[in-house]
Amino acid sequence: MEQVPKDTREWFADWANEYDTTLGKVKRHLALLDQVVNLSGVRDKDQVLDIGCGTGLLSLKFLEHADCTITAIDSSGTMLRIFQKKIEQCHLSESIFLEERSAEEMVFPSYQFDIIASTVALHHVKEKGPVIQRVYDSLREGGRFVLGDMDLDTTGSLDDPVRLVRILEFLTKEFALAMEDGGIPAFERMYDNGKKHILNEGEYCIGFDQWAILCKDAGFRLITITPVKGFPWFKVLVAER
Ligand SMILES: C[S@@+](CC[C@H](N)C(=O)[O-])C[C@H]1O[C@@H](n2cnc3c(N)ncnc32)[C@H](O)[C@@H]1O
Repeated sequence: MEQVPKDTREWFADWANEYDTTLGKVKRHLALLDQVVNLSGVRDKDQVLDIGCGTGLLSLKFLEHADCTITAIDSSGTMLRIFQKKIEQCHLSESIFLEERSAEEMVFPSYQFDIIASTVALHHVKEKGPVIQRVYDSLREGGRFVLGDMDLDTTGSLDDPVRLVRILEFLTKEFALAMEDGGIPAFERMYDNGKKHILNEGEYCIGFDQWAILCKDAGFRLITITPVKGFPWFKVLVAER
């Protein structure tokens, strides 16, 4: 399977130090994280996998809700180093285990996890089918995959103006929120990032109807999709094994 492009790793290495003060301040992002954790139904003693954990915003929210154990993976060592510092400061090294590893490379024993969650990370994976299959295989029977991401179809021909307008309309809402909640630094990040979505440079967003098909093909039975409260252009998918 294709590995994480160097550009994507460099992009996140460059963003890492500012991540929590830019996207981490955007209310829409915090609402997404809350909804993912709420819909996961996490309980004490659950084994949770966080794919593309970044600086740990989602993992730490899980631990606010339950005394669970978290394995968190990310392809960016720079993002993980920031997360590791938080783990040490909060004395959470018995609860969170980090691995520098891409979603494409992950191999865990079958039936290992009660919950596998991911927020705004899996759209970076170009070939999504095999990754969703690994998610399915690593969940126990009755376990849940919870995906929070943008509901944006960027497939199609890059020079199609109709596709361009669709993506720009979506991004405009995101630019406005970034400016409102994170000021110019957050807006600049999102604005630079917008071009990557348009040109599919390390950003390969699909719609939630497309995510649901991938989950069904992998074997998931029950699939629900819920818009994020107040920000319905983002959605949360829960798929039960
Ligand atoms: C926008 S951040 C999201 C971080 C965190 N999940 C959150 O919601 O705040 C995306 C993260 O995905 C990671 N990432 C990108 N491509 C990845 C891949 N193929 N496998 C694993 N992690 C990846 C990046 O390094 C980055 O830390």
